[in-house]
Amino acid sequence: MANGIRYFIGNWKMFGIPSSFKILDKINSYFQKDKKNNKKYKIIIAPPLTLLQDFSRRCKKKKILISAQNCYEKDNFGAHTGFVSPFMIKKIGINYVIIGHSENRASGETDKIIMEKISLAVKNNFTVIFCIGENKEERRKKKTLNVLKKQILNGLKKNKHDFKKIIIAYEPVWSIGTGKIPSPQELQNNAFNLKKFIKKKFKLKCNPKLLYGGSVDKNSIRSFKPIKELDGFLIGGASKSSKNFIDIIKNFYK
Ligand code: 13P
Repeated sequence: MANGIRYFIGNWKMFGIPSSFKILDKINSYFQKDKKNNKKYKIIIAPPLTLLQDFSRRCKKKKILISAQNCYEKDNFGAHTGFVSPFMIKKIGINYVIIGHSENRASGETDKIIMEKISLAVKNNFTVIFCIGENKEERRKKKTLNVLKKQILNGLKKNKHDFKKIIIAYEPVWSIGTGKIPSPQELQNNAFNLKKFIKKKFKLKCNPKLLYGGSVDKNSIRSFKPIKELDGFLIGGASKSSKNFIDIIKNFYK
């Protein structure tokens, strides 16, 4: 059961320019005003790299937290053109990083690379939002849980004792950006079994944190709300508009 803090995490992907800080400001104003519920949830926004430092500075006095969308898997500094290390991201005041997103897996990120990224990010004291998810074909063949378990074991090989710093984000690949969502029963089953598996495998005293991501919006949130196993949501498309993002939170607590 998820009785603790809920996470509403906005993954902006390749979206945003400097003036997009206005979206952040509007979300922050809503959060400040939402006295009835705002102790029950955390908001994290993951803008693209170009906005990370500016957003990090702006959020020093705000309650919104900022996350990176990815990081490099080796070294603090090095000859790796176009990449940034967890060490560099940490130095601009960021404490969260998304790792293993299916869009990055699709462009060549392997389980091994993901494992190295998680390991280095944890070493740099990040909280990692670790994405896993089955594709359409794997779901059709009823391999979902096996795929998810394998991704977890492979990604966390070196991190057996760091579960306070790991948030699992279950994002079925077939659901991302498609408007298709799992039935409440399917999602509840997968979430329940995943949490049980992780708790047993890593000998945890508390339940691990588990988010759902994939076509979360102000309407679909209603069907996710009763699923007690979920500790929050990783939101793509609907997080790029302050109104849509706020409506998700409003409908969740309605
Ligand atoms: P959508 O909410 O656009 O389906 O994206 C989900 C996602 O990939 C978040 O990381």
